[in-house]
Amino acid sequence: MLAYELAAYGPPLSHQLGEVAEPQVAAGQVLIAVEAIGLNFPDALMVQGKYQKRPQTPFVAGRDCAGTVTAIGAGVTAFKPGDKVVAQVFSGAFAEKVAAPVDRVFLRPDGVSARDAAGAVTVFNTAFVAVAIRAEVKAGDRVIVTGAAGGVGAAAVQLAVNLGADVVGIVSSEAKAELVRRAGARAIVIAERDPDLLKQAFKTQVRQAWGDDRGGNVAIDTVGGATFDAALRALGFAGKLVVVGFASGDIPAAKANYLLYNNLTVMGAPLDIHFDEALERIRAGTSYWLDLLSQDKVQANVSTILPFDQLMQGLQDILDRKVTGKIVVTVGAAA
Ligand SMILES: NC(=O)c1ccc[n+]([C@@H]2O[C@H](COP(=O)([O-])OP(=O)(O)OC[C@H]3O[C@@H](n4cnc5c(N)ncnc54)[C@H](OP(=O)(O)O)[C@@H]3O)[C@@H](O)[C@H]2O)c1
Repeated sequence: MLAYELAAYGPPLSHQLGEVAEPQVAAGQVLIAVEAIGLNFPDALMVQGKYQKRPQTPFVAGRDCAGTVTAIGAGVTAFKPGDKVVAQVFSGAFAEKVAAPVDRVFLRPDGVSARDAAGAVTVFNTAFVAVAIRAEVKAGDRVIVTGAAGGVGAAAVQLAVNLGADVVGIVSSEAKAELVRRAGARAIVIAERDPDLLKQAFKTQVRQAWGDDRGGNVAIDTVGGATFDAALRALGFAGKLVVVGFASGDIPAAKANYLLYNNLTVMGAPLDIHFDEALERIRAGTSYWLDLLSQDKVQANVSTILPFDQLMQGLQDILDRKVTGKIVVTVGAAA
């Protein structure tokens, strides 16, 4: 079969599509014939060896895929050949066939295409962890989302809106703002490039958006660096800042005096560990947003479809900050 097997870590365009042996389906796994692959920022980190976990090379990279089950391993009762599924694996998704552990495989509801499901699975699962499990967003909460036109950001805006929250999104340009408006945000703040200006202007603009001085209840931060500082300052009394990622490449430090001053909480929202430590909650979350997707209440925002041999260019485009919405790669008969 064709796959991106990494011989060594390196920039996206250093990796090539090639022939590898098909994976064997083990006990507790299903074999999926892949139709669509979703690309994510963490994939771009992984292929460079910059992700927090570094599998031994050679290995096939890739985390999100959707397709059809073609075989099941011993002990599998929840799936059968022919089932239409989406999977979020740790590695192996950049391939025509994937052997996926059943804990990480989900049936696709009628009406949810392989492309939308593959484009949505990591970003909506991450947003669910951040918005619903960690911040426990509820109706009426004021929620700030940074990197709001990115994959996780746009999913977080939509989930928060569906939970009845009042959302302000931060993006880098007017060109990216439209997607966030469509996602249901009340207001958009275009981020200042200068870090000091960003901190001051964001606090003021967020307060203007809500029309009073109370600030936000929750900030979901996918960007880090100066944006993290700005989001922290835009929170009101007892606000919660949820750390999702560092798309800026800058891991910030929270000043403890600031947390004390305004009674704030900073918390992490790691997705993968929820499959080990809180499987039922994350699987319930996946069912929740797949249902919203099937009812058209949230959108996967797939903006670009690439052929399999262009996959690494897609990862480079993510790193170059050229992407609004999600890139999906089509494979096999779907291509
Ligand atoms: N916690 C978890 O388990 C988990 C899971 C998935 C992803 N993540 C992390 O979450 C972050 C966002 O992931 P994603 O898939 O949403 O990425 P994405 O689709 O590429 O979106 C990232 C957004 O960050 C903004 N950004 C601001 N400064 C940037 C910079 N210097 N370089 C690149 N982007 C910048 C960009 O928006 P503007 O250009 O509008 O500013 C972009 O839309 C990443 O750090 C990723 O590793 C964490």
